[in-house]
Amino acid sequence: MSSSSYLFLIQICVFILCNCSTEARSSHNISLGSSLSPLGRQISWSSSSGDFAFGFLPVVEDGRATRRFLLAIWFDKTDPKTVVWSAEVNPSATGEATLELKTDGRLVLTDAQNRILWNSSGVSDDVSHAAMLDDGNFVLAGPDGSPRWQSFQHPTDTLLPGQSLLPGNKLRSMETDLLQLHRRFELLLEANGSDLALYAINTLSGSSYGFYWSVNTSTIATQLCFQQSGLRLNLMNESVISITSPSPETERDMYQRATIGDDGVFRHYAHPKNNATMGWKTVAFFPEGICKAEFTYGSGICGFNSYCIMNEDKVDCKCPPRYSYFDPNRTFGGCKQDFRMQSCEVDESSMFELMPMPNVDWPLAGYDHFWPVQEEKCKEWCSLDCLCAAVIFWNSTGDCWKKRHPMSNGMSGGFVNRTAYIKIPKGEGGGGGSSLAGVATSWGYVMPQIVVPNAK
Ligand SMILES: *[C@@H]1O[C@H](CO)[C@@H](O)[C@H](O)[C@H]1NC(C)=O
Ligand SMILES: *[C@@H]1O[C@H](CO)[C@@H](O)[C@H](O)[C@H]1NC(C)=O
Ligand SMILES: *[C@@H]1O[C@H](CO)[C@@H](O)[C@H](O)[C@H]1NC(C)=O
Ligand SMILES: *[C@@H]1O[C@H](CO)[C@@H](O)[C@H](O)[C@H]1NC(C)=O
Ligand SMILES: *[C@@H]1O[C@H](CO)[C@@H](O)[C@H](O)[C@H]1NC(C)=O
Ligand SMILES: *[C@@H]1O[C@H](CO)[C@@H](O)[C@H](O)[C@H]1NC(C)=O
Ligand SMILES: *[C@@H]1O[C@H](CO)[C@@H](O)[C@H](O)[C@H]1NC(C)=O
Ligand SMILES: *[C@@H]1O[C@H](CO)[C@@H](O)[C@H](O)[C@H]1NC(C)=O
Ligand SMILES: *[C@@H]1O[C@H](CO)[C@@H](O)[C@H](O)[C@H]1NC(C)=O
Repeated sequence: MSSSSYLFLIQICVFILCNCSTEARSSHNISLGSSLSPLGRQISWSSSSGDFAFGFLPVVEDGRATRRFLLAIWFDKTDPKTVVWSAEVNPSATGEATLELKTDGRLVLTDAQNRILWNSSGVSDDVSHAAMLDDGNFVLAGPDGSPRWQSFQHPTDTLLPGQSLLPGNKLRSMETDLLQLHRRFELLLEANGSDLALYAINTLSGSSYGFYWSVNTSTIATQLCFQQSGLRLNLMNESVISITSPSPETERDMYQRATIGDDGVFRHYAHPKNNATMGWKTVAFFPEGICKAEFTYGSGICGFNSYCIMNEDKVDCKCPPRYSYFDPNRTFGGCKQDFRMQSCEVDESSMFELMPMPNVDWPLAGYDHFWPVQEEKCKEWCSLDCLCAAVIFWNSTGDCWKKRHPMSNGMSGGFVNRTAYIKIPKGEGGGGGSSLAGVATSWGYVMPQIVVPNAK
């Protein structure tokens, strides 16, 4: 069975409900007045099986635990521990924080100055206890055991088996660097149930650049349901659309999760329960051709001046030769040139060359377009133009597009039948930067070995 394709299997009258109304049965009831603190005796509450824990998880950097903590739910028996839910709180604020299940039934996180950092909002006042359940759901429960607040209804980037996404709700990708949280992608089930789609998002404003994958229900979807057998969209008329194909991998002895990755790919993962270090294996994913996505605004799937390349379910963002990542720790963050641009004051065209990059394109937003032209003319006109950062040539039609910085929607793969020519300094020209041979290894194109002497 293909692990990658999503299927439109409409299974008439096979209506499998997600088991979302969990009863808060647990051998570990957490009573009102209990609290957790990263500096205290207890930093988390475990489920009775020990598979999940809720509490403070130290942020790990360079393999070392820091004094910064996520308020989170995680798989406690995998190595490393895998976060499945987290509160929207800056980890650097939580070093001396306290989480308390108040006697009024609210769960409140406060800092050392007693300021509220986070709380379980919208909880009714008859909460009698809390519990970390064995399915990964953390609940505040009433006297009858039924949930008044549950983490399953406030998903972050992950769904667990039995959990569902209701219309109007979304999963948002998480990627952190030292300074901020980047949420570049979203999976949204439209509030009116008309479609399920993946969107590219501006991380600062949260506004959408557009969708790059969607399922049109042509009727009303009532929930996106994740189960051992995969992701399904339940429709109003009791039909089911399979979003990921069922997989034989999904057995009882596997942990499972469905997560929207920081690369925009949504994956169903499995992890054997009997081997903590085996790691998560992708069972199914979508979309397949994420590098084909184009957006009018923003950088595209990868950052500005970089280009996207997909291998199996893995997305890479590469820099062109003589370009490097703005932040080497964040390859999705885009690339800058390692050299001084061609001067517009004096003619420096002879100091630059156009390096071919077959099957690479930065579509949209060219600032000039000629056709039909010969390849040599296309390159020459870019050489002479100090604003031209690259040209894209399509040899079957003789189309030539000039590109300036920053370039966006960069893509690479067999489906790209154009060649990009990127303008870089010849030999020692152009004011330094890393050697061409060193950069070449990072983008998978076989490059002639060019020895760059030290700049004068
Ligand atoms: C509790 O959380 C909600 C939602 O995040 C927020 O609107 C509300 O102001 C918070 N309450 C307090 C007392 O901070
Ligand atoms: C936990 O709470 C539920 C619901 O109130 C109750 O049925 C159960 O007996 C409690 N478990 C323990 C160990 O107290
Ligand atoms: C559902 O909502 C979306 C977004 O607001 C809108 O584009 C679409 O037309 C709506 N569909 C129906 C059937 O109302
Ligand atoms: C979804 O289907 C509706 C009704 O057939 C149509 O109006 C709409 O354009 C479709 N949306 C997409 C994204 O294909
Ligand atoms: C439900 O709606 C879908 C989409 O319109 C359709 O393909 C399917 O046959 C319908 N199922 C039933 C049971 O009517
Ligand atoms: C667990 O998985 C790791 C990585 O695949 C492997 O090296 C190790 O031998 C496995 N341990 C057991 C007990 O199977
Ligand atoms: C990359 O990460 C390491 C450790 O987290 C940090 O020391 C270094 O400054 C980071 N590099 C950049 C360019 O941010
Ligand atoms: C276009 O380029 C491809 C690959 O380099 C080559 O095989 C093909 O013959 C070229 N077509 C034309 C019309 O030049
Ligand atoms: C080039 O790729 C485009 C888009 O993938 C396709 O429509 C076109 O037929 C291809 N042209 C050739 C000559 O392969």
